Amino acid sequence: MRNYPQDTGGVTEMEIGYLFARREWGKGYAAEAALACKEYGFKSLKYKKLVSIINVKNFASIRVAEKAGMKKEKTFLRAGNKMYVYSISNG
Ligand SMILES: CC(C)(COP(=O)(O)OP(=O)(O)OC[C@H]1O[C@@H](n2cnc3c(N)ncnc32)[C@H](O)[C@@H]1OP(=O)(O)O)[C@@H](O)C(=O)NCCC(=O)NCCS
Repeated sequence: MRNYPQDTGGVTEMEIGYLFARREWGKGYAAEAALACKEYGFKSLKYKKLVSIINVKNFASIRVAEKAGMKKEKTFLRAGNKMYVYSISNG
């Protein structure tokens, strides 16, 4: 789990990204950690907006973003792959 600057189709924004070992999937860790990263990004690092860039076919990742309170903002192409930008703003 990380907060990291990313190009979201011409704009650089701060991303919450997630990658877990397969044996740990489905235990709720990603959703819990995404929420914690969001709180840290807004409260401690004072970011105004956070995004997650997700392949449109990655249903588990889309669900994690939704559980962190993010909403689908736009779609763009990255290396030929259709990607969603999910985002949430502080306040
Ligand atoms: C995406 C990833 C981090 C999710 O991790 P996880 O620990 O399994 O996630 P959680 O258990 O917190 O929650 C996953 C949610 O997605 C849902 N989900 C899982 N697989 C799903 C699928 N194929 N379709 C729809 N929903 C799915 C779960 O049911 C859960 O939602 P719920 O609590 O409402 O039931 C993990 O699959 C991963 O590391 N994947 C490889 C890297 C990756 O794709 N990262 C994201 C790049 S944008």
